[in-house]
Amino acid sequence: MDTILDVRNLTVSFRTSGGTLKAVRDISFELERGKTLAIVGESGSGKSVTSKAILGILAGNSIIEGGEILYDGKDLLKISEEEMCTIRGNRISMIFQDPLSSLNPIVKIGRQITEAMLLKDRGNRQSAKKEFNRVLALIRENSSAALGAESSAKVQQLVKTFNDFNVEGTKMETAYNEARAVAETLISSAEDFLFLASKNQKLDIKGTLQTMGKKLGSVKNEFLTWGYDEQITALSRELFTARGKTPGKASEVPTPVVDAVRKMDELLRSICSAPKPDFFRIGYYKLKNPDADLHSMSIEQLNEEALAFLDSSFMLDFLEMEQRGAEYSFRTALERKKAVISELGAARETFRNGEIRRGSAKKAAAAAADLVEKSIDRMEIIKDSQAYTFRTALNDAIDRYCDAVKKNPKEEARFERQSRKRERLIARGKTVDWKVVPKVVYDLDDLRENIISCFDRLIAHYEEYIAAADSVDFRERSVGIIDYLKEKASQMVYRVTRAMAKEKAIELMEEVGIPEPRIRYNQYPFEFSGGMRQRIVIAIALAANPDILICDEPTTALDVTIQAQILELINSLKAQRNLSVIFITHDLGVVANMADDIAVMYAGKIIEYGTADDIFYDPRHPYTWALLSSMPDLDTKEKLEAIPGTPPNMIYPPEGDAFAPRNKYALQIDFEQQPPPFRVSPTHWAATWLLHPDAPHVDPPKIIVDRIERMTKKAGGEI
Ligand SMILES: Nc1ncnc2c1ncn2[C@@H]1O[C@H](COP(=O)(O)OP(=O)(O)OP(=O)(O)O)[C@@H](O)[C@H]1O
Ligand SMILES: [Mg+2]
Repeated sequence: MDTILDVRNLTVSFRTSGGTLKAVRDISFELERGKTLAIVGESGSGKSVTSKAILGILAGNSIIEGGEILYDGKDLLKISEEEMCTIRGNRISMIFQDPLSSLNPIVKIGRQITEAMLLKDRGNRQSAKKEFNRVLALIRENSSAALGAESSAKVQQLVKTFNDFNVEGTKMETAYNEARAVAETLISSAEDFLFLASKNQKLDIKGTLQTMGKKLGSVKNEFLTWGYDEQITALSRELFTARGKTPGKASEVPTPVVDAVRKMDELLRSICSAPKPDFFRIGYYKLKNPDADLHSMSIEQLNEEALAFLDSSFMLDFLEMEQRGAEYSFRTALERKKAVISELGAARETFRNGEIRRGSAKKAAAAAADLVEKSIDRMEIIKDSQAYTFRTALNDAIDRYCDAVKKNPKEEARFERQSRKRERLIARGKTVDWKVVPKVVYDLDDLRENIISCFDRLIAHYEEYIAAADSVDFRERSVGIIDYLKEKASQMVYRVTRAMAKEKAIELMEEVGIPEPRIRYNQYPFEFSGGMRQRIVIAIALAANPDILICDEPTTALDVTIQAQILELINSLKAQRNLSVIFITHDLGVVANMADDIAVMYAGKIIEYGTADDIFYDPRHPYTWALLSSMPDLDTKEKLEAIPGTPPNMIYPPEGDAFAPRNKYALQIDFEQQPPPFRVSPTHWAATWLLHPDAPHVDPPKIIVDRIERMTKKAGGEI
């Protein structure tokens, strides 16, 4: 199982004039890479709040009462806004219900798509540089330590050489990229030109040809245009001659002009599609052969020569040294982990048995977290999320405990006071038109258990880690680190130009099914239909190539046929780009063909969770039954059942199962006590007392049983 996003015990409230509204109450779920998780529930159940919490865009009156949202080794609830900015839109994107609210009405569509790409690019380059230097420093430190003092000079030398040739390589690559960016601008303007010419649009032909001719001269980079010099010169001449043949401003473009532009387009395309030099290797080659004429060889030859050079000497040494460093870093961290386990166990016991006071508890937490911090293997590229978030999770749990210690007696006293007052008034025969706000007190044992479970989880994680220690392949790991460094080095120099962004935007527009994107690129949002706008919003969401896409009722504002198209689009994008999707909707019917897993939410809680098959073929919670019964399908003959009643007021959430008052199958205990999740199968659970072994047997409503039977038959008797 490859979990990309892990939401644990998320609890979110809002301060409102009427009191604290508990919008999301202790929900947990995992999103797997490449899968779709649907969150389904009625209006107000907390779906949007959950997704906004993930993106860190909750309203100002929100309070995150607890929980963790783990992504890429980080708890999204704890990171700085600055760091969140690099994740939001970049790694995790969101599509909202109403496309207009995500679009700026007075900015052209094309600009709105490219803006995101251009903005993100700069930040990416800076953070790549930081990361490169950080990892390289780690290699130096650990390798020096592993190989001992006498090898230290050699390590320094190897690391320095590695760094130098990366610098050399990135310099060359930057120059190459710049020339290539000009070529790409030219290709893009040639495309526009040819497109408009074929539509007989008015064009400033002379001016355009002049700019093209000038720019063509600056597509000169020995690596990029190797062997194309003559052709470029000839073409410049041709463009110039063609310019002389145009009669001022014309609507009909003369054939020689079209031909010249087409030729330019083709030539530049073939230049751009030639193999790219491997600057990583060439940088080293140049370092060792400062006088070599790199441009007298073809790119293929050069790549080969540089590779041989790299293999024969330097890289093997470097790899060997780095491997020793990686192993050293791992072993040191492993020893620390082993040592820490017993100390953490001891700390856990003091939390389990002793009195917890904020000051001393915080000190103990800081000490434990420092130990954990020191036992993280920093050379691991894939971050150890458990260890990284231990400190914040533990501190949070302690805060919650200490807050409750302080708040509970006050809340009890308030409740007593108000109840007494009310009774007094009633005893005096007054009519009392106010109610006593129910008391909110937290169970201290539960809260203490939360603190302990921070330790439990980490200890279990470390034990697993220690058990798997012998199977680590350090060679593989070292190659992985070098690949990572190479990737960072090329991110440092990868500059997105306006022209590149434009072409990417047009590609994206095509990908999301916008016809004639070259014309559409320059239009305003109001010139698009609702379905088209939603496609544009999807294109914007995909612009930065995110891992996770959150769709919050993306089709509710659209009519049914367009709805189906957008759903299909999201589905196919997901498959092509291996996206992980959180799909939020109030309509179970919508997710039937989309979701791998489904979480059913009610009153801020997940009340049933399972695979799509579990939920559709074996639903267990009466609320899921109710949702399914109100879902139309082609074969249902009976009248659909609306769900009676309304959701509870979340300022005073009910004690028991929140759905009980609307649930005709409710048992007495449903009104009194929150049902725990009962496991139905390894993939499926539901929080209803009906699943308790002592509960009476209740069948789902007939309409559902019938439908399941029909669906099973249709599927050929197989589920
Ligand atoms: N800023 C806020 N201030 C106060 N209450 C809020 C705020 N935002 C959301 N809520 C409340 O939180 C609860 C959950 O809201 P949420 O938007 O998550 O519902 P939803 O499940 O997305 O519903 P819908 O299907 O209508 O979009 C609701 O009771 C809502 O009134
Ligand atoms: Mg919503």
